[in-house]
Amino acid sequence: MKIGVIGTGNMGSLIVDALIQSKSARPKNISVMNRTEKKALDLARKYRGLTVHHSAAEVIRRSALVFLCVKPLQFFPLLQSVRGVWRTDQLAVSITSPVAVEQLEKLILCPAARVVPSIVNQALAGSTLVTFGTSINEHMKNKLWHLLEHFSHPIEIAEENIRAASDLSSCGPAFLSFLLEKLVDGAVQSTGISQKQAMELTAEMVIGFGKLLERKTYTLDELRKKVTVKGGVTGVGLNVLNHECSTVFEHLFEETQKKFLEDHLAVDPFFNGTD
Ligand SMILES: NC(=O)c1ccc[n+]([C@@H]2O[C@H](COP(=O)([O-])OP(=O)(O)OC[C@H]3O[C@@H](n4cnc5c(N)ncnc54)[C@H](OP(=O)(O)O)[C@@H]3O)[C@@H](O)[C@H]2O)c1
Repeated sequence: MKIGVIGTGNMGSLIVDALIQSKSARPKNISVMNRTEKKALDLARKYRGLTVHHSAAEVIRRSALVFLCVKPLQFFPLLQSVRGVWRTDQLAVSITSPVAVEQLEKLILCPAARVVPSIVNQALAGSTLVTFGTSINEHMKNKLWHLLEHFSHPIEIAEENIRAASDLSSCGPAFLSFLLEKLVDGAVQSTGISQKQAMELTAEMVIGFGKLLERKTYTLDELRKKVTVKGGVTGVGLNVLNHECSTVFEHLFEETQKKFLEDHLAVDPFFNGTD
């Protein structure tokens, strides 16, 4: 299948990397375009055979499936500029959560879907959050699903849950990095352990932790109970966490929902009145 990627910033490049490294697409079947062309040329240097185009329209003309990897406010001008270019046998895939699939369908004259990636897809792991548009048929759904399965675990997400799902799957790596940095800093500041050793131990712990979850050896609850020996040290640490952090994630989700609403309000006026 010929695949196009418009916008090769962080996420567009990650998708190209994941497609090629998972062998779900060959460079010769991928066309890319980026506003600042250097980023697209860098990818072409990395992957021989990948084609760089000067216009988004050219990428669309040459692709069966097109990933649109621009930021929310960049969507409307891009879609307006290529409005008449789409064919009904193509599939347009957006990666940005504040633009609803329904909004995309108003401006793209072919079936559409949204796939929110995560930085962990770079390791050919983690989820991709999939929301299908109303005009996509089963054949196209299967094709997209199969493509995503090469580098991720695709999960279908209803429009109303997209922010919470993105917080967990796509923002999660940043949240977890922050918490792990705090864990390391706490150890360094309160004990004599070096930063280097604390970081190494934490990284190894997280890798092992991920493997246990992957093998489904324990649920999170079982894992916590297994480590918490009665009268032991873990319980003392958990008491501190329970006391000091028990509402932190409610606040976090309240704030991300608020920001999501703001992003919607910024994007919606562009799409209103486009019926
Ligand atoms: N970062 C994450 O972990 C993550 C995860 C899931 C989803 N997302 C979503 O992915 C989207 C992109 O994020 P990002 O981090 O990849 O942003 P980014 O690095 O800024 O990438 C956007 C790219 O789009 C290019 N662009 C803008 N308008 C264009 C146009 N009309 N034609 C062609 N290229 C154009 C930009 O080019 P220039 O080089 O000229 O600026 C830039 O390279 C966002 O909506 C974000 O919410 C991000």
